Amino acid sequence: MRQQIIVDVDTGIDDSLALLYLLSSREAEIVGIAATAGNVPAAQVAANNLAWLEICRAPDIEVALGAATPLAIPLRTTEDTHGPQGIGYAELPRSGRGLSPRSAAQMWAELARAKPGEIIGLCTGPLTNLALALRIEPDLPVLLRRLVIMGGTFNHPGNTTPTTEWNVHVDPEAAKEVFDAFAAAPAQRRPIVCALDVTETIEMHPEHLVRLAERAQSFPVEHVSADQPSTDRSVASNPIIRHLTDAVRFYFDFHHSYDQGYLAHMHDPFAAAVALDPALARLRPATVDVELTGALTRATTVADWVGMWGRPPNADIVVGTDPELFFDQLITRVGDFALTVHPPVPQEVP
Ligand code: RIB
Ligand code: CA
Repeated sequence: MRQQIIVDVDTGIDDSLALLYLLSSREAEIVGIAATAGNVPAAQVAANNLAWLEICRAPDIEVALGAATPLAIPLRTTEDTHGPQGIGYAELPRSGRGLSPRSAAQMWAELARAKPGEIIGLCTGPLTNLALALRIEPDLPVLLRRLVIMGGTFNHPGNTTPTTEWNVHVDPEAAKEVFDAFAAAPAQRRPIVCALDVTETIEMHPEHLVRLAERAQSFPVEHVSADQPSTDRSVASNPIIRHLTDAVRFYFDFHHSYDQGYLAHMHDPFAAAVALDPALARLRPATVDVELTGALTRATTVADWVGMWGRPPNADIVVGTDPELFFDQLITRVGDFALTVHPPVPQEVP
């Protein structure tokens, strides 16, 4: 029985990897993709999602457009991190596929109502549309089989301000509404939170791209490096590997420009892997709330691990994992998928 999953993304380079991970996982069936404004505006997120589905020759999966702005503040995007279109240096062919007639929030609510207790939810962008869906359907916490969120940071520096993580920073009101809504959820329905504490330990390096290309029998196998001009583009024979290489290289350049190394943190594909198999993560329950009024700390996620607030836990925070096991799974699944979708063309014997 395949695991049905709603994916709420702000595609984004690592969101792209999360989509590829799920599309290449035999046990997963994506039943809906919500395009949330974050890394880039919602319409661009939607176009990126449709383009990846086209490149992957995926079935007609519903892609629903999310709200144009966060719940209470103007949208802030981050093209400097993910590229002008949100997919780094990649230039994905425009897809002929269309968007769903319903909004992302309506899709969340209606899919969950239609299959109570069966659908997994995964959020790898701001929580705007999940919060709007909770306003439509307050029973989402028990209607969803599982919810996994990439977001927040707890005992670890922020990546947007000293104490905040990007997805929560874009829409802190939405994040608070989501965590508050799950306060009454039973323990097995608490959201699993993949925060920077762990996702920043999952570092993709150029050799991971080499292993991916080799697994996909793509050629040439390219060794990207920091001294390549930004105008370079992959010439890999496999389209998925080619576009993925161009996307991730931008992320490598971004981290390198901030002295974090020539690497890329795999925030979203890790959350996708946990959504399919929570056993990949070591969890610890906590009561999570979001600061909304602090002059310096607005959008900070705060975890009460020991009940100081006298409130029951409303989240299971990921406190450990095995990055190499994750990369083995990512490379095997996405590499095999790329090979299956785009097998190498036999070279004509001269
Ligand atoms: O802070 C990392 C998160 O923000 C990731 O989901 C990345 O895609 C951006 O949305
Ligand atoms: Ca994201």
